[in-house]
Amino acid sequence: MILIFLGPPGSGKGTQAKRVSKAKMWPQLSTGDMLRSAIAAGTKLGLEAKSYMDKGSLVPDTVVIGMISERTQEFDCKGGFILDGFPRTIPQAEALDKVLTSRSKKIDKVISFEIADTELVGRATGRRTCPKCNSMYHIVSAKPRTEGVCDRCGSKLIQRDDDKTEVISNRLKVYHEQTSPLVEYYTKAGKLSPIAADKSPDEVYQQLTNLLK
Ligand code: AP5
Repeated sequence: MILIFLGPPGSGKGTQAKRVSKAKMWPQLSTGDMLRSAIAAGTKLGLEAKSYMDKGSLVPDTVVIGMISERTQEFDCKGGFILDGFPRTIPQAEALDKVLTSRSKKIDKVISFEIADTELVGRATGRRTCPKCNSMYHIVSAKPRTEGVCDRCGSKLIQRDDDKTEVISNRLKVYHEQTSPLVEYYTKAGKLSPIAADKSPDEVYQQLTNLLK
């Protein structure tokens, strides 16, 4: 199955993609994680991406389209995959349609994470991430066993540079201007399944499980 998780920053796409990925064995393809890995590795692409990400702006379409086009050809994507944070613009969605059609594949469902902006700022500013294994925590709702330390690999947790209040407001603005038109795009295509993302992580997961039966 090919799934897209669509929603504003902090709506819980990554949290739920990890759970669904584990349960269904479909890889989670997060363009944000791929770009952060490129930054950590100090590649040319990473350096270019950083200048956009630090401001909360989108990285150019050509960069992320190329990344996803290549990644979805890997062996582990044969049985399906979850796109977490891609597409984010209409040109990205059109390019994805083209790539999949050329491979005789199609998107099965687009899960739209619905939540008010007022809920999102606290989620993003409170998020802590493991730079090594990408595990995710929240200082209130998903605390690690030892403060500041990853339960899974023991690394020191960090706050993402783009999770600071001033950058989050731009990310939300960018979402409404450039990404939210995808709701209409996928509604017209008959693919959109909205879920209430303002519930607890378990309740959100239950809604997903029902949709994926
Ligand atoms: P990316 O890493 O994709 O960030 P995002 O889409 O802004 O999403 P987030 O990771 O902030 O949030 P999320 O919805 O995954 O929520 P999460 O589960 O983490 O992108 C970063 C940047 O990369 C972009 O700004 C852009 O520059 C670039 N980029 C990436 N993809 C691109 C593309 N396709 N095109 C161009 N540029 C691109 O949860 C957030 C917090 O809330 C966590 O602490 C979590 O524990 C907590 N939480 C989760 N669920 C709940 C719940 N139900 N209740 C309470 N707390 C919860």
